[in-house]
Amino acid sequence: MMRLSRYLARAGASSRRGSERLILDGRVSVNGQVVRELGTKVDEDSDCVSLDGKQIFIDNSAFTIMLNKPAGYVTTMHDPQGRPTVAELVPISAHPALFPVGRLDFNTTGLLLFTTDGDMGNALLHPSRNVEKTYIARISGNLSDAGVSLLREGVLLDDGMTAPAKVEVLQAGKNPLVSISIHEGRKRQVRRMFSAIGCHVEELHRLSFGSLCLDDLQEGCWRELTDAEVHTLLNNAR
Ligand code: URA
Repeated sequence: MMRLSRYLARAGASSRRGSERLILDGRVSVNGQVVRELGTKVDEDSDCVSLDGKQIFIDNSAFTIMLNKPAGYVTTMHDPQGRPTVAELVPISAHPALFPVGRLDFNTTGLLLFTTDGDMGNALLHPSRNVEKTYIARISGNLSDAGVSLLREGVLLDDGMTAPAKVEVLQAGKNPLVSISIHEGRKRQVRRMFSAIGCHVEELHRLSFGSLCLDDLQEGCWRELTDAEVHTLLNNAR
């Protein structure tokens, strides 16, 4: 027996928290009866779980990919405002349960992970997992040594201090190019960190996520992770 929200996440309906919302919203039924109690347990072998009237199954063979996200796409599978979304770039019809693990801003490019495995998504995003993400940022104007030191120590944002970041100036001078690695995953964190030291991020690109690197994956393209890559990613993250 497992909790219904876990079943939904394992079936790729949503994240664990998103699945709880689906239950509370009355969109989930078990053996034909709408269930709204979060504590409900189901037997994955014998119970029939449906979302919006359609039976959903746990697919034990999770599908996990990395996308090299171009600028100009929202990280969501559906945008009510009709903007281009990352869903257009990944094989959603073959894998309708795919969802993005975390997010990149509309104009941020680079490595974005997707999976059909809700547990994996949750594990990777949990703050205690400390997954390191490395970004390359193009800064407009100048970046002082004092600013770099502040980023390395941690800066105060409106949601609290950031943890120390690894920062390396790859190209000094006007409009410098900077590599920055962080473990946290707050909204627009890198842009806000630079803004806290008086700098504007002109371009932002994510090079790596945990043990995964984009390498030669072309912009707008995706590839499936190997079993070994998934294993390493999870072992480093758990
Ligand atoms: N930090 C940001 O500011 N934006 C992103 O897209 C990712 C990290």
